[in-house]
Amino acid sequence: MGEASPIRFSATVSARMEDGVLVLTMDNPPVNAASADLRSGLLAAIRHASAEGEVRAVVLTGAGNTFVGGADIKEFGQPATEPILPDVVDAIEESGKLVVAAINGAALGGGLEIALACHRRIASGRASLGLPEVKLGIVPGAGGTQRLPRLIGVAKAVELIATGRNVSAGEALSLGIVDQVVEDDPLAAAIAAARNFAPQPLRRTGDLSVPAAEPGAVDKAIDKALSRARGREAPAEAVRLVTSTGDRSFAEGVADERATFLRLRDSDQGKALRQVFFAERAAAKVPGLEGVEPRKVHTVGVVGSGLMGSGIVVCALDAGYRVIVVEKTAEAVAKGLDRITGLLDRAVKSGRIDAEGRTERLQRLSVGSDIEEFAAADLVIEAVFDDLDVKTELFATLDGIVRPEVVLATNTSYLDPDAIAAATSRPERVCGLHFFSPAHVMRLVEVVRCAKTAPDVLATGVAVARRLKKLPVVCGVCEGFIGNRIFSAYRREAEFLVEDGAWPQEIDAAMEDYGFAMGPFAVFDLAGLEIAWARRKRQAATRDPSERYVEIADRLCEMGRFGQKTGRGWYDYANGKRTIDPEVTALIESCRKAKGIALRDVSSKEIVSRLLAAMAAEGDALLTEGIAERASDIDLVMINGYGFPAHRGGPMYVAKEGLLP
Ligand code: 3HC
Repeated sequence: MGEASPIRFSATVSARMEDGVLVLTMDNPPVNAASADLRSGLLAAIRHASAEGEVRAVVLTGAGNTFVGGADIKEFGQPATEPILPDVVDAIEESGKLVVAAINGAALGGGLEIALACHRRIASGRASLGLPEVKLGIVPGAGGTQRLPRLIGVAKAVELIATGRNVSAGEALSLGIVDQVVEDDPLAAAIAAARNFAPQPLRRTGDLSVPAAEPGAVDKAIDKALSRARGREAPAEAVRLVTSTGDRSFAEGVADERATFLRLRDSDQGKALRQVFFAERAAAKVPGLEGVEPRKVHTVGVVGSGLMGSGIVVCALDAGYRVIVVEKTAEAVAKGLDRITGLLDRAVKSGRIDAEGRTERLQRLSVGSDIEEFAAADLVIEAVFDDLDVKTELFATLDGIVRPEVVLATNTSYLDPDAIAAATSRPERVCGLHFFSPAHVMRLVEVVRCAKTAPDVLATGVAVARRLKKLPVVCGVCEGFIGNRIFSAYRREAEFLVEDGAWPQEIDAAMEDYGFAMGPFAVFDLAGLEIAWARRKRQAATRDPSERYVEIADRLCEMGRFGQKTGRGWYDYANGKRTIDPEVTALIESCRKAKGIALRDVSSKEIVSRLLAAMAAEGDALLTEGIAERASDIDLVMINGYGFPAHRGGPMYVAKEGLLP
């Protein structure tokens, strides 16, 4: 039998017959999300396949580069429309005809759940697979927590579902999530598999028994997954659902899973994490850059290979760029190379890259002391000491070396990038790329639009940051850009709280309970107190004397207490742990007394609410000044650069939704 005319089951699901195989295509751009239309089309198609004798088997695939990117997240705030995904997935699994998934690209969340219900899975080498629901504050809601452990065991399923980690097709094959991986398009292989299928009992994932776990493996996986889940509900629920698969029937498991999914979907955490998901997509759409092509970048230059520079270098190597690093002296070159190879060695040790990958990366790297080497670069990122004279001199030099179309980016945190750009003959080619330390770990990059930055230069900064797998957030020029400006307001309010009667340890405990990995004073100590001190000294001459000012941090610095690196700051670290220091307690008491502040109890509710309100107020100012494009960009900066708990949605979201405690 040859090809017949296409059959349409819904606007997004169509099929054609190929030698007795019903080849179903899900086509719902941009990511084939399992919308109501797609679900009803799929269900109709499976029913059709069951009813039609001429259909021997079914192959299921996605149009474009995605299999299915999950349930349609945009539907989450609305009343559910029948058929719901679990019913569609069950119909696939229960079908009397063989159903083969041809996983042509990402199969995530509900997309993987559809694939897990198929009787055979063949994936393209390009595909990624996973159940990332916990990142949205929910658990899988269409059988994922019950089917995946039956395929790969409880320990691995805990690891994947409770962290939301996606795997490559290769890893999926070795874990047993897919049956076969093909180089490119899996459709032909899936059709062949369907055609050659000899009638035999279909392998239904839901009917499999859960494989026995190695002793200790499950506990280890749970500890690891939950250690990163501070304050988040979904990972713990995912663990509960996955670990109970062996103790109850499949039907009981999926009923519990569905109820948990629905509860979390409507929870504060679910709503907050959903807004973070959409905030990230919104940040990618930069006003003024619509249709602007970034400049081509093959070779990245990095000036400086200190802590920041070496982190940037490793990201650029990971992204496949050729990288030229220039340092001032032979000694600095050797140290820089050590730092970079050290980071690569760590990546090999952790399994993130293999030895071959390390060698290949080093082949794309050159580290030297001749600045003329940058003549071969397409973009140069400066990561040297944050001093205006040093940076302006460097940019003037670079301007004379690099080709006219090359982009120059400064990684300054506090200096005026317009002043740095002004040192060049082409300020339109300068932008800021403000990385966060350690740069190979932190996801945030503030891409700074200077007064004269050309649109395609800004677009290049954004594109390069994205290729480095960072989250670029565009902002305008002001002291501290978005993040450090808000952090300064946070610091100010935290110090007011101390004067008012809260102890640093109480403030830290309140913010850590709220979900921050570290409270503000622990962070000040970690980052070092001297930069903020230098800034306060710079600002002293222009400070409004009627403005409230807390001197405690100045006194700490005068005492040589610069934070963790000097063993003492707001806390003492002599025994390797953060410990309350009576000397600091006495200092705080004397500063309060000197100002005649009437001491009072400050509740943790007041601490959290004042600190969050201070951040949101500074965020409002940034919006008014046009430094930030949107409130959600500010939330992304605070979540990805400053440890704001993502499941709270960010300071602007909290203020807007009236969620201050
Ligand atoms: N539902 C609705 N819209 C979605 C979506 C989804 N599941 N996934 C992506 N989109 C939208 C994005 O909002 C964006 O829209 P926009 O252009 O209007 O801003 C567009 O698709 C493109 O998204 P990306 O920019 O992220 O595209 P990429 O090509 O970079 O990445 C992807 C594609 C890997 C599929 C990525 O979008 C992704 O990770 N999506 C989310 C996957 C996910 O979390 N799935 C689980 C959903 S919850 C679920 O399935 C519950 C189930 O268990 C019942």
